[in-house]
Amino acid sequence: MLQEIYQPNPQYASTAAIKSMDEYHALMNKAKEDYEGFWGSYAKEKIDWFKPFDTVLNESEAPFYKWFEGGQLNVAHQCIDRHLATRKNKAAIIFEGDNGDQKILTYRELAYEVNRTANMFKNQFGITKGDRVVLYMPMIPEAAISMLACAKIGAIHSVVFGGFSAEALRDRIIDAQAKLVVTADGAYRKGNPYMLKPVVDEALSSGCECVKAVCVVERNGEEIHWEAGRDYAYNELVKNESSKCEAVPMESEDPLFLLYTSGSTGKPKGVQHSSAGYILWAQMTMEWVFDLKENDTYWCTADVGWITGHTYIVYGPLAAGATTIMFEGVPTFPDAGRCWKMVEEYQINQFYTAPTAIRLLHKTGEHEPKKYDLSSLRVLGTVGEPIDPAAWKWYYEEIGGGKCAIVDTYWQTETGGHMISPLPGATPIKPACATFPLPGIIAEVIDEEGHPTPVGEKGFMCITRPWPSMIRTIWGDPERFVKSYFGDCKKDGKPVYFTGDGAMVDEDNYITITGRTDDVINVSGHRMGTAEVEAAIKKHPNVAAVAVVGKPHPIKGEGIFAYIVLKAEDTLAEEIELIKEINNIIKKEIGAIALCDDIVFVPDLPKTRSGKIMRRILRSIVKNEEITQDTSTLEDPSIVGKIESIVKSCRL
Ligand code: PRX
Repeated sequence: MLQEIYQPNPQYASTAAIKSMDEYHALMNKAKEDYEGFWGSYAKEKIDWFKPFDTVLNESEAPFYKWFEGGQLNVAHQCIDRHLATRKNKAAIIFEGDNGDQKILTYRELAYEVNRTANMFKNQFGITKGDRVVLYMPMIPEAAISMLACAKIGAIHSVVFGGFSAEALRDRIIDAQAKLVVTADGAYRKGNPYMLKPVVDEALSSGCECVKAVCVVERNGEEIHWEAGRDYAYNELVKNESSKCEAVPMESEDPLFLLYTSGSTGKPKGVQHSSAGYILWAQMTMEWVFDLKENDTYWCTADVGWITGHTYIVYGPLAAGATTIMFEGVPTFPDAGRCWKMVEEYQINQFYTAPTAIRLLHKTGEHEPKKYDLSSLRVLGTVGEPIDPAAWKWYYEEIGGGKCAIVDTYWQTETGGHMISPLPGATPIKPACATFPLPGIIAEVIDEEGHPTPVGEKGFMCITRPWPSMIRTIWGDPERFVKSYFGDCKKDGKPVYFTGDGAMVDEDNYITITGRTDDVINVSGHRMGTAEVEAAIKKHPNVAAVAVVGKPHPIKGEGIFAYIVLKAEDTLAEEIELIKEINNIIKKEIGAIALCDDIVFVPDLPKTRSGKIMRRILRSIVKNEEITQDTSTLEDPSIVGKIESIVKSCRL
């Protein structure tokens, strides 16, 4: 198949971190020939160690790999303190509020704030090394400050995305056994205040005895319930603290944070990341993939509640000494030119967002980019879901002016940082293709036994050697860690990390990600476990059975489609009411991000005689595809036709 290839812009390539495919291959060969030597030399060079490490990689307890054992460091020191000698007056964080408020924190000011906050956590709330702190925060500098303050004193943060409900927050607090919750009264979205603290109040109303205090940042000044003896005002307390705080020396493998993510079964998993390996790769990918230069201004539009916000708003940029933008608002407010206006105003050099946002901005503001000067841009990034060629083209032509590299970065919460991505100065890009593994990452498309899949055929996207920023375990559930990631694929007889994604390699060795192979759906670049949504829907007393699948959606990539079997036959009027009730339950159990796009009521689900729901049939029906699966093994083969006609009639 003929496909357009976009060569790197020679003007940028000549000064890029990795300048050519020859350089890329040389690095990759170096890694393959001497894996430990490769990683060991970067770790030595990039990290400001308090104590040097003894070993690079310990595989003796695989898959519980250990990197840089014997070494001691502190991630907040790596991200802030070590820069003070050369960058103290450089902007570290530029905050832009929803309402256009601006605030710039230099590295010196960031050090000051982080130290005071770290002291407050320590002195006022008794937080010490290893304690868990849950952050339920809007996109304000105090979110990053609190993360770094935890890192400074060795506490493990667990940021919960502000769109999650009280129930979801409670589950995560309990699982992590958090001692402290840091939140804000609320924040602003589309010009209006919204609230967070009431959600924390509700979450803590039962089962969270582990939480000793709630520390509340004032952002929107709206009235909130205050529980004396439990709730404390961040802005008041922090004033009394010293701006000097010794960084606690951390072992390389000490956990830096937990971040809960959805799996195909059961409750969300607390993905545990390490200190040294994580920060090393966060920093290196920042330098390689975004081709960061000293005077650059970098903007990632994610929320700190997701891994992209952790690695590419906070840790990666700051470890690399960059200027990172934190944006509280949404890309379409006050209009669909907001992002481009910001690019012009801050002279942004790297812009990193999700395909969903690109599709939305394309659809709602096709001509907006023309109104602004976007010439500062050098690298454009996408993350979280496949980007379709139409969105890619618009991004490339209209935003990048045909001169920027688009880095389609493929990675996961579990991988800590980018795994497969073009390098802006080196990789000839095929649109909508993640291209090649980054140097040092041994990513392969294989079958269950580890054989490479033939060109053009789908296989399993695996990372066949451990890498420094990989997930260390699932918090409190090491067995689930092994089963979730090392249970499906082997290479040379040894279990290897399986991402859960399918992928394909073409004749030029380019890798294209084809999507999840499990029951995880990707809504606007957010991972959603169908099991979680189903568990919420099942809480409705009238629901007998439910199956949730992903449905292609023009903006969100995938939408949530639920097939529901009711306990009793209901009339259509009641169904409309039921849909409302079911969505209310989802909002309460998970949050608005998991609301169903479509709900259809069906007489039964296609089940095998042993009771297993044949989801592939349900997926095919939603996509209006021909049913190729064998339906003769179903308990009631006629159900397929019945469901098909119900779904068709809904489409009319
Ligand atoms: O299915 C892949 C998809 O997003 C999943 C990871 O989701 P999460 O852990 O929430 O992290 C999102 C941000 C890194 C993957 O298993 N995904 C991520 N990036 C891409 C992608 N699918 C296609 N292309 C990508 N660039």
